[in-house]
Amino acid sequence: MTATQEILGRLETGARPSRDDVVALLTSSEEQFLFSYADKIRERCLGDEVHLRGIIEFSNYCVKNCLYCGLRRGNRRLVRYRMTADEILETAAEGAAAGLKTIVLQSGEDPHFTAKELSRIIAVVKERYDVAVTVSVGDRTKRDYRLMKEAGADRYLLKHETSDPELFSRLRPGTTLQDRIKRLRWLKELGFQIGSGNMVGLPGQDAETLADDIMLMQELEVEMAGIGPFIPNSDTPLARAQGGDVATTLKVLAVARIVLPNTHLPATTALGSIHPEGRQMALARGANVVMPDITPVGYKKLYRIYPNKICIDEEGTTQCIPCISALIASSGRSVGTGYGHGWMHQQRRT
Ligand code: 5AD
Ligand code: SF4
Repeated sequence: MTATQEILGRLETGARPSRDDVVALLTSSEEQFLFSYADKIRERCLGDEVHLRGIIEFSNYCVKNCLYCGLRRGNRRLVRYRMTADEILETAAEGAAAGLKTIVLQSGEDPHFTAKELSRIIAVVKERYDVAVTVSVGDRTKRDYRLMKEAGADRYLLKHETSDPELFSRLRPGTTLQDRIKRLRWLKELGFQIGSGNMVGLPGQDAETLADDIMLMQELEVEMAGIGPFIPNSDTPLARAQGGDVATTLKVLAVARIVLPNTHLPATTALGSIHPEGRQMALARGANVVMPDITPVGYKKLYRIYPNKICIDEEGTTQCIPCISALIASSGRSVGTGYGHGWMHQQRRT
């Protein structure tokens, strides 16, 4: 028996993996074995359904200055936009009419949208449409999060980005990993289903860091984990960095599926942007979520976090959703028909 098989055998009996186990899986040479094992676990724990989450990127303003991100406030080359509340609601209406069961409201960290204003938008979406609402607007006060929860938000997405505290503070000036984790705990306490995640291929990251990323998400009991490659953006200080590759990202994804069997794992747009079959490969290695971008076409191309993002010229509801549905069908899977709540909230109704 190989070391990889020994670890997987132990996990099969319900044992919790140690950090060393996770490092060993991440550095295992038995990729194909890991991949098919991850796919089997996905099928056993979550079935064949792939949940669609329609994202509305409603503002590309950001007060933060993360070294890796095109929305950073220091990027003068980006044309900035904010959608109006009516435009956001109109887009949500289109998404709901297209059958989406989750609407994700995402933006840079834009204080122009107060918690009160966001809560009003959330409440209207929840009242008008039979959808779950995920909010992804970054670091806010606990009071802000509470207001949004009271308005009816179901989930909050706040990626930890990297579990290495020094790397975190270097890449996200003025912020700490500890503070990020504190917020994730607040969100859980307030009753949100929480999503986190990390980038793969950040400068200075190694297998140990990636193992810690997965261990942290296990400890936080996240209900979603967004894992995608870092893609260097020429309008940022990390323009010349190497970036994440397809093989490593898929391996981290597969190991995440093995360690977090019930957690929703998206086949990320970033992975689809560095390989034409990126999302299909992810779906075959543990992923069970895809996030079509339903932002109006005029704005979509301005939400330029990284270069060569796919699907920015396609219209969300008439083009992206049919395209993604076909991709799911050709992977031998079916589009989820429910809300696709997290594993700790399966019983709860929206
Ligand atoms: N490459 C890939 N993903 C990125 N993100 C930010 N910058 C990049 C990049 N250059 C991701 C982060 C963040 C979200 C806004 O996009 O994970 O959470
Ligand atoms: Fe702003 Fe988020 Fe980009 Fe950082 S990663 S600059 S917080 S949008």
